[in-house]
Amino acid sequence: MPAQITADMIIHDVVAQYPDTVKVFQGHGLPCTACAVGERESVAGGARTHNLQVEPLLADLNRAANGEPVVGLKPERKMPTGKGIPLQMAGQTGNKIRNVIAIMSGKGGVGKSLTTGLLAVALQRQGMKVGILDGDITGPSIGRMFGVTDVPVKEEDNTVTLPKSGSGIKIISMNMFLPNATDPVIWRGPMISQAIKQFWGDFDWGKLDYLLIDLPPGTSDAPMTVMQSLPLDGVVIVSSPQLLATDIVKKCIKMVQTLKGKIVGVVENMAYLPQADGSHMEVFGTSNGPELVALTGSPLLAQIPIDPLIAQFCDAGRIEDYASDEFTMLGNNFVKAIKIAR
Ligand SMILES: Nc1ncnc2c1ncn2[C@@H]1O[C@H](COP(=O)(O)OP(=O)(O)OP(=O)(O)O)[C@@H](O)[C@H]1O
Ligand SMILES: [Mg+2]
Repeated sequence: MPAQITADMIIHDVVAQYPDTVKVFQGHGLPCTACAVGERESVAGGARTHNLQVEPLLADLNRAANGEPVVGLKPERKMPTGKGIPLQMAGQTGNKIRNVIAIMSGKGGVGKSLTTGLLAVALQRQGMKVGILDGDITGPSIGRMFGVTDVPVKEEDNTVTLPKSGSGIKIISMNMFLPNATDPVIWRGPMISQAIKQFWGDFDWGKLDYLLIDLPPGTSDAPMTVMQSLPLDGVVIVSSPQLLATDIVKKCIKMVQTLKGKIVGVVENMAYLPQADGSHMEVFGTSNGPELVALTGSPLLAQIPIDPLIAQFCDAGRIEDYASDEFTMLGNNFVKAIKIAR
C-alpha cells in the first residue's frame, strides 16, 4: 500500500517512518527535523509557522515517501565560512577547526554560558574534539563551570598548551590570566575585541570538530568582533519564555541577520519548572518556541527546564557530570541542525 502522509501527522513521526522526507522538509525551508517543536508539531502546524502552503509540501512528502523523484526543492543552505578573516589569522587555527559556533542572546543571565557548556559536553560525549573560547572577557564563567583553574603553558618549542576540562575539552578564559578570580577587567571595547582575537589567533587549538564561543550579553564589542573578525560558521541563540517578550533577544537575532551570520538553532532555557505530578509550571510564561523558530527560520534545539541540579553542578565545576533527557536532545538536535545548515 502506498504511503499516505496527512497534514495532521506529527513531523518527527513522518521523518521516523519515512527518512527520505527529511530532504523535502529541508527543501521547503523547514528545519523541523532537528527541532524540539517538530516532536509534537503537525505537518500543517510546521507549514503555518513558516508561512508555507501545506498542499505542495504534502504532495512532495508523499512523493518522497513512495520513492518517487521530487523536483524543485530549494538547494541546501550554505553557511558563510571564513568571511572577513584577518589574513594573519587565516593560516593558523582556522583551517584546523571544522565548526566555529558562537552562543549569543543579547540578554544577560539567560543561560548562554550554560548552553555553551552543555553543548560542549554533549559534543565531547559524542566523540568529537571540542574547545571553548570564553568570549566574556569581563564576566567569564566557563572556567568555574568546568572546574578548570589551570593556566595556558608555554612549551619549549614556543607552542602553548591550552588547559583542558576533565573530559578533554580545551578551554581559554580571561580568568586564567588574572592573579585572582575576583579581580575585575576594567577595559574599553577595543581591548575586549583584541583579547578575543588573541584567544583565537595566538593559541594553537589543534584539530577541533567544534570551537564554541561563549559571548557576553549585548550586541556590541564582543559579538561584533566574533561576527566580523572570526571565521564564524554559525550562531546559537539562547532565550527564555519571558525574555523573548522583552525584545532584547529579537535585537540580537536582527543583529546576526544584519551581519549576515547564520543562526543554526535556538535554545529556550528556563522553559518550565517540572512538577512532582509530571506537569510543567511555566514560571516565565508560555513557551515562545514556535515564535523563535519563525523569527530565525532555524530549529528549536531544546527547551531546558529550570533544574536546581544545573545550578549546583555549574557552581561545583561539575557540568560534565550533568545528565537529563532535554540535555541529550540538545546535543542530538544541534548535530542534526549543523548538518542541515551545511
Ligand atoms: N535551566 C536552568 N536551571 C537552573 N539554573 C540555571 C538554568 N540555566 C541557568 N542557570 C543558572 O543561572 C545562572 C545564569 O546562567 P548563565 O551564566 O548560563 O547565563 P548567561 O546568559 O551566560 O549570563 P551572563 O549574561 O552573565 O553571561 C547560572 O548560575 C546558571 O547555573
Ligand atoms: Mg555568560
